[in-house]
Amino acid sequence: MRPVKILYLNGPNLNLLGTRQPEIYGRTTLADIESEVRAKAASLGVSIDFRQSNHEGELVTWIQEARGRFDALVINAAAYTHTSVALRDAITASEVPAVEIHLSNIHAREEFRHRSLIAAVCRGQIAGFGKTSYLLALNAAISVKVNA
Ligand code: DQA
Repeated sequence: MRPVKILYLNGPNLNLLGTRQPEIYGRTTLADIESEVRAKAASLGVSIDFRQSNHEGELVTWIQEARGRFDALVINAAAYTHTSVALRDAITASEVPAVEIHLSNIHAREEFRHRSLIAAVCRGQIAGFGKTSYLLALNAAISVKVNA
C-alpha cells in the first residue's frame, strides 16, 4: 500500500514568518514549521509536500494538480482566505478533502478576517494555535483521508 500523501499549501506573506508581526504570528519561520511537520509526518509514515506562493493563480494550479495525486490538502490560504472565489472553486473541483488552517484565531481579529470563503468547501478549520495548527492539521488530514 502506498503511503498517505498530504499536500500543505501556504499563501501570501507566509514566507515572511519569523519577522512578520511576531506578536500575532510568532517567531517561528515557515522553514521551521515545515521541519516540524516533516518530522511528525515521518513518525506517522505519511508523505508530505510543503509549498508556499504569493500568487493566487499558482495556488489554484497546485490545487488542481492535487486531484488524484494527494489524499488530503492542508491549506493556510492567508489573505486569500477572505477574498478568493478562485481558491474555493479549485478546492471543490479537485475533490481532495481539505483542512483549512490559520496560525491566528481569525475570528478574534478584524471583522474582515471573520469570513472565510474556503471554509464551506473544507472538511474543517483549525485556527489560533500558532505553529501547532500545522501539526494538528496532520492528524485532521489523515482522518479526513481515511473517512473520505
Ligand atoms: C492567517 C490569517 C489571515 O487573516 C492573514 O491574512 C494571514 C495569516 C493566519 O495564519 O493566521 O496572512 O492565515
